[in-house]
Amino acid sequence: MEKKFKRIGVLTSGGDAPGMNSVIKSVTCAALDMGVEVIGILGGYSGLINDRTKKLSESDVSDIISKGGTMLYSDRCDEFKTEEGMQKAIATCKKHNIDGIIAIGGDGTFRGATDLSIRGVPCIGVSGTIDNDITATDITVGFDTAMNTVLKLGDALRDTSESHARCCVIEVMGRNAGYIAIETGMALNAIGVVIQEMPFDKEAMFAKMIRMKEQGQRSFIVIVAEGMGSEFGEALTKEIEEKTGIEARFNRPAHIVRGGIPTLADRCFAARCGYKAVQLLLEGQSDVVICSRHDKIIPVDIKWALIVDRMYKNKLKDGDLDAFTPEEIEKMKALCKERHEYFVEMYEIVNAIGC
Ligand code: F6P
Repeated sequence: MEKKFKRIGVLTSGGDAPGMNSVIKSVTCAALDMGVEVIGILGGYSGLINDRTKKLSESDVSDIISKGGTMLYSDRCDEFKTEEGMQKAIATCKKHNIDGIIAIGGDGTFRGATDLSIRGVPCIGVSGTIDNDITATDITVGFDTAMNTVLKLGDALRDTSESHARCCVIEVMGRNAGYIAIETGMALNAIGVVIQEMPFDKEAMFAKMIRMKEQGQRSFIVIVAEGMGSEFGEALTKEIEEKTGIEARFNRPAHIVRGGIPTLADRCFAARCGYKAVQLLLEGQSDVVICSRHDKIIPVDIKWALIVDRMYKNKLKDGDLDAFTPEEIEKMKALCKERHEYFVEMYEIVNAIGC
């Protein structure tokens, strides 16, 4: 019987994330091992539209896993959202005999993958975003490294804050999600963590800071999630000075958190996801995203994943749930509840023990 897949494509799209290279490496080596050629698409979906490709061999990917960023480069591509852009992308697939694509990125990347799947190009998504904001998966590739980077920066900021008896307010990336903020807040012993997901009791934090200062504490860390808005962190810094009398400084590491050497956890997770994506694509699966649920690597229907995301973010539109069975909708609700409960638990602990 003739093999259906002779050649597959791999691309990274959206904001880059440490560990994306590990996925690329895993996809390339797994596919070659299974007798399938691999075409790297350069610059995400815009590379597919503009026919920027590179055939990948094992040696092309042999030394990339210790590097942050993505060797295939990335882009956020508006043209791909148009039918014309999509048709150009499909033409590139036909030109290079690309039988299927593994698309690494966040929700925008998965929307693109589902659009291509519908038009006859089988696609599988793999998460690659520091934000961890894909509701269908417990973790995303890049999240662990980003948190560890914040940890290093936070520890350094603690040192200087201790010397000068200051509070350091650190704004961390995460788009609208508070995952990086809450976990690093806990690990850095932040006296306050401000995230969109939970109500923030500012006065209680000020009172605790004053109490701790009276006990002789010199340094304080407050973590603010990027999703609180660009003005929030600086305004809070000023207010801390006014209300507590503690000198305060604002720090925004921004994109620094997106780079750097991928951690072991990210490399291994990325490798598992890449391998599974190739296996499933060659078995004939399409329009699914590889997720981690309770440490099991499983495929999840992309449309289900995108809608559960909207449900969790309270962004459901009329008709969004029409295509799903009552059981599927119940599963979505249960997952949203689980995500919410995680924040409730983490927030309670951080507020109780942070000082
Ligand atoms: O999605 C990753 C992310 O780094 C977010 O945390 C952040 O909001 C956004 O991308 C920044 O995007 P850009 O790189 O386009 O400035």
